[in-house]
Amino acid sequence: MNIIDIINKTKNKKELSENEIRWIVGNYTAGNLPDYQMSAWLMAVCLNGLTERETLSLTLAMRDSGDILDLSGINGVTVDKHSTGGVGDKTSLIIAPVASVCGVYVPKMSGRGLGHTGGTIDKLESISGYRTEIPFSEFVDIVNRTGFSIISQSGKLCPADKKIYSLRNASGTVESIPLICASIMSKKLALNADCILLDVKYGSGAFMKTYEDAVKLAGMMQRIGEKAGKKCRAIVTNMNTPLGSSIGNALEVKEAVEILQGKCRNNLYELSMTLTAEMLNLAGKGTVEECREMAENAITSGKAYEVFRETVSLHGGHLEFPEAQYKYEVRAVHDMKITGIDSQEIGMVSLILGAGRIFKDEPIDYTAGIVMNCTVGDCVSVDDTIMTLYSSKISDFSEASYRAVKALKFCKI
Ligand code: URA
Repeated sequence: MNIIDIINKTKNKKELSENEIRWIVGNYTAGNLPDYQMSAWLMAVCLNGLTERETLSLTLAMRDSGDILDLSGINGVTVDKHSTGGVGDKTSLIIAPVASVCGVYVPKMSGRGLGHTGGTIDKLESISGYRTEIPFSEFVDIVNRTGFSIISQSGKLCPADKKIYSLRNASGTVESIPLICASIMSKKLALNADCILLDVKYGSGAFMKTYEDAVKLAGMMQRIGEKAGKKCRAIVTNMNTPLGSSIGNALEVKEAVEILQGKCRNNLYELSMTLTAEMLNLAGKGTVEECREMAENAITSGKAYEVFRETVSLHGGHLEFPEAQYKYEVRAVHDMKITGIDSQEIGMVSLILGAGRIFKDEPIDYTAGIVMNCTVGDCVSVDDTIMTLYSSKISDFSEASYRAVKALKFCKI
């Protein structure tokens, strides 16, 4: 076997065998293949795609590149949920405690944000004292005690994905349905929960810009999960508008807490309830309608918030929300109706404010972000505040406010 033959096969749309795919993944992960040859193969995949058989082989080869977790120490059915990334997406912080109250276990490993999309681990690390890296035995213990735990992805899981994903970022090969599918599913399969719910997003701010591409990715991920022996379901949801009213790490945790306390019912609440109902149904807890009712009751009874507080405390965290040093109100310059809010652009504004990172491992400002004071469909009068920008990193809001206004779609009334 040699790399030139493998690159040429994919370049000429010839199907690779499982052995050839295991060879390329194994050798690249072990450092036996240079980045330029792996990039050439990844680009061929980007341009020509892979068959579903090849995508399954790639997913399993990446899964097998590191540890596969043994979750047998958890006292019941385990359910994992994954979102393909978005702006203002803090559903994991809501879904995990709600689903736990409804009788399933949610052992979750998450990642950090990169570019305009946020990451659950950054949100959790904005909670003072919260430990995202704990021994596996403590992770299992917390899941057994409260029903869920969210920690940072172990470096021992899918080392192949870690290396390949960095290379994709640096070689313009991120946007490929089989590569995204293998990257996400290898990590989900290595985490090894009994059931996997996938929330595949489309629109501005999402990897998949069109509904049709999101449906293709969702179908492929669900089939790969099933072929790998899991109960797996993928649903497609809209990411044209940010989820909820807050974007930025501590601001998002605060909003998740408000939802868990039953104080707020917006598009974030709706999506969280929909996803939880699907997760519970997948785990055999009832029909989707019954499961939705259970999820809503977990919030109104106050139990989901209790479980969240207890889990945060077991992780060493204290739920308090310091305000940013500087803030700026974006106000309406005429009477207007808000007709749209561009997620990607809002994600970029939060990056400028300091809430995200362009380069891996860059420090971030946990207090930074945006609170939308109105939403799509609202009418505002001249001088009303449309959104509030927060930062402890910058005090000059000229670029951020200019781009924030650009993110709004409106008509004068
Ligand atoms: N998230 C991942 O983990 N991998 C991708 O390829 C895209 C999004």
